[in-house]
Amino acid sequence: NKDIYILAIESSCDDTGAAVLHNGKVLSNVVANQEIHTQYGGVVPELASRAHQQNIVPVVHQALAKANIDKKELNAIAFTQGPGLMGSLLVGTSFAKSFAQGLNIPLLAVNHMQAHILAHFIDGASKEKPEFPFLAMTISGGHTQIVKVNNYFEMEVIGETIDDAIGEAFDKSAKILGLPYPGGPLIDKYSKLGNPKAYQFPKPKVNGLNFSFSGLKTAVLYFIQKNVKNNPNFIQDNLYDICASLQYTIIGIVTDKLKKATQETGIKKIAIGGGVSANSGIRQALLNGEQKFGWDTYIPKFEYTTDNAAMIGIVGYLKYLESDFSSAATTANARFKI
Ligand code: KG4
Ligand code: ZN
Repeated sequence: NKDIYILAIESSCDDTGAAVLHNGKVLSNVVANQEIHTQYGGVVPELASRAHQQNIVPVVHQALAKANIDKKELNAIAFTQGPGLMGSLLVGTSFAKSFAQGLNIPLLAVNHMQAHILAHFIDGASKEKPEFPFLAMTISGGHTQIVKVNNYFEMEVIGETIDDAIGEAFDKSAKILGLPYPGGPLIDKYSKLGNPKAYQFPKPKVNGLNFSFSGLKTAVLYFIQKNVKNNPNFIQDNLYDICASLQYTIIGIVTDKLKKATQETGIKKIAIGGGVSANSGIRQALLNGEQKFGWDTYIPKFEYTTDNAAMIGIVGYLKYLESDFSSAATTANARFKI
């Protein structure tokens, strides 16, 4: 049994990540967040690629230093091939290819969405590793998917958003409320202080297991405009109740779809991932589902659930074991499907 050291690179959106794994165990997991986007109220792709280019070498050096290994000990380089922002992906892809060429070691191209799911197989990521088959719900600022996971690389998307991601529903509503970007964590915080039934927002009517969040944002906009006309201080006076009601609506949407997914598939094991899985209300709803519906839920540690390179590394390791290497001609794929 050989010792396998893998360097993993993540650069799909606005976080530059590098991690080193030893036989699937995380030795280091470094992320450089890009503060630059805060002032624009969202990720600006052009600025993201530039920041990746600036960050990638220092982040990789840090990951190697923290893991206390020399680059010559590496056995392979894993990188995010997609999906994501093309300019951002190109930075990580080009870096990984050149580094692998220089070290004369193989390349492992990783699908970012598979990585969010397989992050559960990092040692110590959550209470235990889910057994196949299970359902995975990936919810973040960029993604909203329910996936049936039959095996490591046998996955089927059974539901996804037809417009905005769930994180955008949080962030865009927060923006309407005058909260800074990203507003999701603030809505979560204020929700705890308000009445979830103070206001009613419409739930979208979408067939099957798909989601739609763009209507919710519009509903929030009209609701605020209408009320501010009568009371210019409406938001300030009712912020906690508005946040609680909005979050309650989103939790309802997610819970309805999960209920439907478990009924349709007969699978009650649910693993979640993505930045929005940090939401306290969604976590509570999942735990309630354990009592109410007999669900078995898996919630990974925060560092493995937001965009990170350790999750790319674990997929890289699984691919390494199957000698599933990619050629030096591999290119980034912004619309890479699971
Ligand atoms: O996974 P992530 O860090 O990056 C990607 O979007 O891929 O997710 C960021 C998203 C943002 O939309 C942010 O508002 C949301 O996750 N978020 C939350 C919470 N923490 C982060 N949304 C609701 N409640 C939270 N506690
Ligand atoms: Zn992601």
